[in-house]
Amino acid sequence: MKTFRIGGVAEKIIERSDMPPAKLKKVLGRETVAVVGYGVQGRGQSLNMRDNGVRVLIGLRKGGASWRLALNDGWKPGTTLFDIPEAVRRGTVIQYLLSDAGQKEQWPVIRENLKEGDALYFSHGFSIAYRDQTGVVAPPNVDVILVAPKGSGTTVRRHFLEGRGINASFAVHQDCTGRARERAIALGIAIGSGFLFETTFEREVFSDLTGERGVLMGAIYGLWLAQYEVLRERGHSPSEAFNETVEEATQSLYPLIGENGMDWMYANCSTTAQRGALDWFERFRDAARPVFEDLYGKVKDGTETRRVLEANSRPTYRQDLERELKEVRESEMWRIGALVRSLRPERQGAKKGKTTATGKAGKAGKAGKKRR
Ligand SMILES: NC(=O)c1ccc[n+]([C@@H]2O[C@H](COP(=O)([O-])OP(=O)(O)OC[C@H]3O[C@@H](n4cnc5c(N)ncnc54)[C@H](OP(=O)(O)O)[C@@H]3O)[C@@H](O)[C@H]2O)c1
Repeated sequence: MKTFRIGGVAEKIIERSDMPPAKLKKVLGRETVAVVGYGVQGRGQSLNMRDNGVRVLIGLRKGGASWRLALNDGWKPGTTLFDIPEAVRRGTVIQYLLSDAGQKEQWPVIRENLKEGDALYFSHGFSIAYRDQTGVVAPPNVDVILVAPKGSGTTVRRHFLEGRGINASFAVHQDCTGRARERAIALGIAIGSGFLFETTFEREVFSDLTGERGVLMGAIYGLWLAQYEVLRERGHSPSEAFNETVEEATQSLYPLIGENGMDWMYANCSTTAQRGALDWFERFRDAARPVFEDLYGKVKDGTETRRVLEANSRPTYRQDLERELKEVRESEMWRIGALVRSLRPERQGAKKGKTTATGKAGKAGKAGKKRR
């Protein structure tokens, strides 16, 4: 455990070394973890726990896409794969990893099958923090805990297989057994977290909804589009506009910023780029700041979650989504994007099974392709 103080805030960080395998076994050895839901989080977390020696079973509605995927991954009906009520009855930790709208719908089934002393686990503060909208109010005789990986479930699994980790936050909403905190920490390590930092259900969901609508996906796409459109209108070709906007960012600069930080990036680009970026970032911050204020307000007052629950519970949800994604996919920017991606040498190598520039056969390319 490490404690540090930055910006006047003292924080404790829990690392894997705080929960070595013997301690993990002591805390989780008698637990049966029922993972309800097999989206990217349910899949990543359950497979990592299984590989870490935790007793895991899966709870799903029969016949859905997730059921078929779970069968493919080796979960066995009647042994490690059950319908939702049976999985909840068999579990002592219930990892509630349906979609957030699905959690609202299935809550009566979960509620009915929870037993005294169970731990009800979430990877998002949504259902509990907005219980006035979801109706998810846990009975007083269970622990209510959260471990929220700060990354896609795909990366939770991929990093685990690569010996790396995804950082996660953890929280205790209700501690009925006196073990809620150690259960949350042990589960956080068992699902493959890099390190854990503490939060509350409310703070997790406010920051998460702001982040994904903002810099992680919504804002960044908005910024990319604005730049791409200006470049195109000023006569630049699609490949020039795309390379200068997305490809260079994702393939070169963002991984370097991730490795070394922003000051390093500024110090290690051309002096021309450095001067310009340092002169312009405040204008972009000032332009974006009111939008972030508006966004945070709408997250906090429940406008955003009401919209999510309404849109994602519609019977036409999947068709509506596919229509929106098709528009993105078929836009000029992402048509050139697909072309640019396909022309990356490593993908060419994978496609043709050719020897790559590094002299290795197209295996790395193939594995890369499979992982995506
Ligand atoms: N996506 C991420 O990377 C990520 C990151 C951090 C936290 N989280 C949180 O983790 C939780 C799970 O998210 P996710 O992205 O893994 O899953 P998801 O894609 O949102 O949900 C998929 C799962 O929910 C099931 N489901 C949906 N509606 C259902 C219903 N009405 N009845 C029964 N099953 C239903 C699906 O089963 P079928 O296949 O049968 O439809 C599938 O197993 C959420 O709380 C999310 O906010 C997600």
